[in-house]
Amino acid sequence: MIRKSGNRFSEEIMLKENDSGLSRFAEPELTRPITTVRTVRDLRARVAQWRGAGERVALVPTMGALHAGHLSLIGVAKAHTSRVVVSIFVNPMQFGPHEDLAHYPRDEAADMQALAGTGADLLYAPGADEMYPQGFATQVSLPSLTEDLCGAARPNHFEGVATVVTKLLMQCAPDAAVFGEKDYQQLLMIKRLVRDLDLEVEIVAAPIVREADGLALSSRNGYLSHAERKIAPILIQTIGHVASDLAQGRGCDDAAEAGRFKLEAEGFRVDYVAVRDPDTLAPLSGPLKGPARVLAAAYLGKTRLIDNVPVPFSRR
Ligand code: PAJ
Repeated sequence: MIRKSGNRFSEEIMLKENDSGLSRFAEPELTRPITTVRTVRDLRARVAQWRGAGERVALVPTMGALHAGHLSLIGVAKAHTSRVVVSIFVNPMQFGPHEDLAHYPRDEAADMQALAGTGADLLYAPGADEMYPQGFATQVSLPSLTEDLCGAARPNHFEGVATVVTKLLMQCAPDAAVFGEKDYQQLLMIKRLVRDLDLEVEIVAAPIVREADGLALSSRNGYLSHAERKIAPILIQTIGHVASDLAQGRGCDDAAEAGRFKLEAEGFRVDYVAVRDPDTLAPLSGPLKGPARVLAAAYLGKTRLIDNVPVPFSRR
């Protein structure tokens, strides 16, 4: 049902054709609905019970509309701890005024069904008043890591993510928290904030889960028209070519520019194609002198797609 990709650039998970990837998790007749808590108090009480019994706990933060990419994070979490909490909170603070907050897909019943049988132990689904009570005034911000790439097009987005993730980590106080490489800039920002704020949690990165044709799973893929959906895999194909060019010694700016050109020729409106240091996201130039990450964001119609691939470095 799910195979590891043979792509030479990355460890990633590809679904087979016509497979939503959800079926391997849910066996409805064997599973009970997941226990749900909606307050910090109930979450902490449950986590304290587990801790008291000597168990370790992982948190998997999400905004719901769960797909096989999200559910794969639970599998990664299970490899680290005996207990897994999944949070679902569509965080208003990370949406810009013209973004899709009102239309963001929400279906808690479907999400609960998707979670049954995954091995997740608890769903934490707070309301907006629980997360941001009247008078809430704090913001967590990491400008040096978030001013460009996705941050340039989405002002305040990463402040919203950093703030809610800090809160989720303090509310749950997990031993580990799992985030997908799909949102690579987000992942690096979260690793940084955990180090900077001395939070006692291990941040675990999970590989990207892709459709059979390579498109990275995303809650926003459902916005694509039939025609756009057909073109969408060209995004990963193109950044894969950029990575190959880099591995063969082509300069970073040159390879990225060729990628942008290809995407525009195929009908994407390109936000960025960038070659960056995989740990700091610092821009790279000239032929590679070490490992790199190729990151891209591009629109098909109104839908913004993001993706990224690693470029391993081998001394030639
Ligand atoms: P959301 O977009 O729901 O994603 C939740 C987690 O799932 C993130 O860590 C994301 O990187 C991961 N994910 C999404 N698609 C994936 C895929 N195809 N393969 C692997 N992992 C994938 O990211 C957010 O929510 C929010 O910003 C959040 C961190 C929850 C804060 O609100």
